[in-house]
Amino acid sequence: MLVTGASGGIGRRLCLAFARDGFWVGVHYCSRREAADDTLAELTAAGGQGALFQADIRSRDDVQAMVDDLQRRRGRLDVLVCNAGIAAGHLVVRCPEEAWQRIIDTNLSGTYRSMTAAAAAMMTGGGSILVIGSYAGLHGTSGQGAYAASKAGLIGLVQTAAREWGPDNIRVNLVCPGWHPTGLAGEAYPSADRLQDHVLGRLSNLDEVSAAICRLAQLRDVSGQVWNLDSRLF
Ligand SMILES: NC(=O)c1ccc[n+]([C@@H]2O[C@H](COP(=O)([O-])OP(=O)(O)OC[C@H]3O[C@@H](n4cnc5c(N)ncnc54)[C@H](OP(=O)(O)O)[C@@H]3O)[C@@H](O)[C@H]2O)c1
Repeated sequence: MLVTGASGGIGRRLCLAFARDGFWVGVHYCSRREAADDTLAELTAAGGQGALFQADIRSRDDVQAMVDDLQRRRGRLDVLVCNAGIAAGHLVVRCPEEAWQRIIDTNLSGTYRSMTAAAAAMMTGGGSILVIGSYAGLHGTSGQGAYAASKAGLIGLVQTAAREWGPDNIRVNLVCPGWHPTGLAGEAYPSADRLQDHVLGRLSNLDEVSAAICRLAQLRDVSGQVWNLDSRLF
């Protein structure tokens, strides 16, 4: 299996969850090799196995080379988690064109490139693709227009891919992990007094969220679904 964005906060915990479930884990990174090394070291210390893969998901060639390399080493790709992503805070009217393009090219088009390369590898034997979305993609978030648009676009992409690839037994689902204190969340991460929109009054726990995503990726008869993994209501 392969987790993109495994040098980041959520990706690292996803790798650990899959390793604990007995998966050999492809640990993907883009620019932060040392952080990916740390992910692999934690995974190995927990008794797991895996290897590093570098790719900029804005490059079709990079993504294809990564999937080819993994297939060469492992024989096949059974699970892909499309977790790599970026965010930037801009009001819709003030979002610079460059920032808009970069966010869409990474979060939406980069996920599209990763999914299609993986699906080609899964056409024989099937597989599971889990895409990491965001509550912002379900409801919008002030100051995050490009990010919200990129994540909303993933819903249509996932549901369409699920329809097209279902006959080949490739399951495609999307999960929204809730707020977690990573580099991406940055200063937008809410303080305890700003959780009125969470009916439980608390954030979701990343260990629980990672274990849930690992379990969802292994469901054999579920595809085209969208799950929100915190207590915010629609
Ligand atoms: N944190 C939250 O509260 C939250 C909430 C909802 C959804 N999410 C989603 O969860 C996912 C992971 O976010 P995170 O919070 O763990 O962020 P993070 O710690 O900043 O990690 C982001 C990851 O994405 C990778 N990445 C960025 N640009 C890339 C590119 N062009 N090509 C390939 N990889 C690239 C980074 O790789 P390098 O560092 O190696 O460059 C890093 O591994 C994202 O999709 C995010 O939208 C996060």
